[in-house]
Amino acid sequence: MFEINRNFSNSPEQMEFALRVSTILKNKYSQKPRALVITYGCQQNVSDSERLKGMLSLMGYDFTETPDEADLILYNTCAVRGHAEDRVYGNVGAMKHYKRRNPDMILAVCGCMAQQDIVVKRFRTSYPYVNLVFGTQVQHRLPEFIYRCLSGERVYETTLDNGEIIEDVPLRRDGTLKGWLPVMYGCNNFCTYCIVPYVRGRERSRKPEEIINEAKEMVSSGFKEITLLGQNVNSYGKGLDKQINFAELLREINAIDGDFRIRFMTSHPKDCTLELLDAIKDCEKVVKHLHLPFQSGSDRILKAMNRHYDSASYLKLIDAARERMPDIAITSDIIVGFPGETYEDFSKTVELVKKVKFTSLFTFIFSPRNGTPAADMEDPVSREEKGRWFSELLKVQETITANNLKVMVGKQYRVLCDGQSEREGYLLGHTDGNVSVEFEGDLSLVGKLCQVRIDSYSNVLTGTLV
Ligand code: SAH
Ligand code: SF4
Ligand code: F3S
Repeated sequence: MFEINRNFSNSPEQMEFALRVSTILKNKYSQKPRALVITYGCQQNVSDSERLKGMLSLMGYDFTETPDEADLILYNTCAVRGHAEDRVYGNVGAMKHYKRRNPDMILAVCGCMAQQDIVVKRFRTSYPYVNLVFGTQVQHRLPEFIYRCLSGERVYETTLDNGEIIEDVPLRRDGTLKGWLPVMYGCNNFCTYCIVPYVRGRERSRKPEEIINEAKEMVSSGFKEITLLGQNVNSYGKGLDKQINFAELLREINAIDGDFRIRFMTSHPKDCTLELLDAIKDCEKVVKHLHLPFQSGSDRILKAMNRHYDSASYLKLIDAARERMPDIAITSDIIVGFPGETYEDFSKTVELVKKVKFTSLFTFIFSPRNGTPAADMEDPVSREEKGRWFSELLKVQETITANNLKVMVGKQYRVLCDGQSEREGYLLGHTDGNVSVEFEGDLSLVGKLCQVRIDSYSNVLTGTLV
């Protein structure tokens, strides 16, 4: 845990609410009340939760991991697939029981789900014991919302104002070694299956000086791995006063003094330039890893998805990356069973997977999202059939992953040592491509970037420090 109190330097009204809440809590509780923040979804949400915790801490909350002890429970939710939403409804429902035992407890729901009218309506009508529902664009007003809850109000705030980036929000980082650094928010791509643009609003970039300052702050506090976040980092910089693109931003962060490495995600193939690949190659702190979701190997489906590239141009990009960095780790996201996808389309996805030989894959079965164009498309293939395609794809990738790991034997990699491994006497670390490696060494190496030669592979890679 690492806390930075930015104290709402530009938002005196939120600071005022935070102070008021702090006074109320001091009068109400003999010891610090405790908050439990539960986060679903992508790294963007994890990063948002760190800001939510920063604000709660400023208001005088301590933290707990058990609902039994909590005086405030906050669900930061994800809406990307139906399954993620169902879990939230189930889990929030289960909280009714804790609420009965502790009627003063504040139960709150925020994040991407809370940005959808249909969801807010459901919480209003079917979950009367939920005190607070607020969307992604008003997170920085948490002190005001908590104040209103403590005054007995049920609060629903979901305006999507889409503009300003609020930079003065307190921050309580979960880790001390690896940290998130958002470079942009929102998305303009409107892939036809995806809810993100609707719940996160239009794409906007943080000013480079804010990002560089935050990166410097992280490095001087001992962070060894900084992950730059955005739904489509390759389009970073649009709309800023200063002319800068993502490749240039990477070079600027790389120039910060210190022993640390830089990750970033997600890259969209349509905006991934050779200039970016050159920057990855040139910057010694930038990991040689590209997460480049291709979603489908069928050009017909890519078109229906509104992705703006085809399989040939995707493969060309992969070649360009490998030409520059033969060992670069490449990972991807795939959707199986997009509406109208046939087995023939799906086979093209498998073909592409076999061609590229990804380090690892994140695969999903299409989930219709209310309000997106794909949710209204003809979708004749059954869930069972899609399930079979999905298993077939996983099997193909399993073999590829195992082969990729075998190929690593004998080579040297930069590994960030995260801690002790479960295996007695061994340390655990991760390569640039996020592959786990076990190696012998003493605990003083934890939190250090080490050079490790891979000696063998059986279930896990084992190496020796060089
Ligand atoms: N901005 C990132 C991804 C955000 S969502 C990008 O464009 O790559 C992460 C992944 O979830 C997507 O890459 C996609 O594979 C998957 N996904 C998004 N919407 C989905 C849906 N409706 N059904 C199934 N998978 C979906
Ligand atoms: Fe969703 Fe596409 Fe935006 Fe990624 S680029 S968040 S998949 S709309
Ligand atoms: Fe989910 Fe929102 Fe991220 S929908 S994937 S938490 S941007």
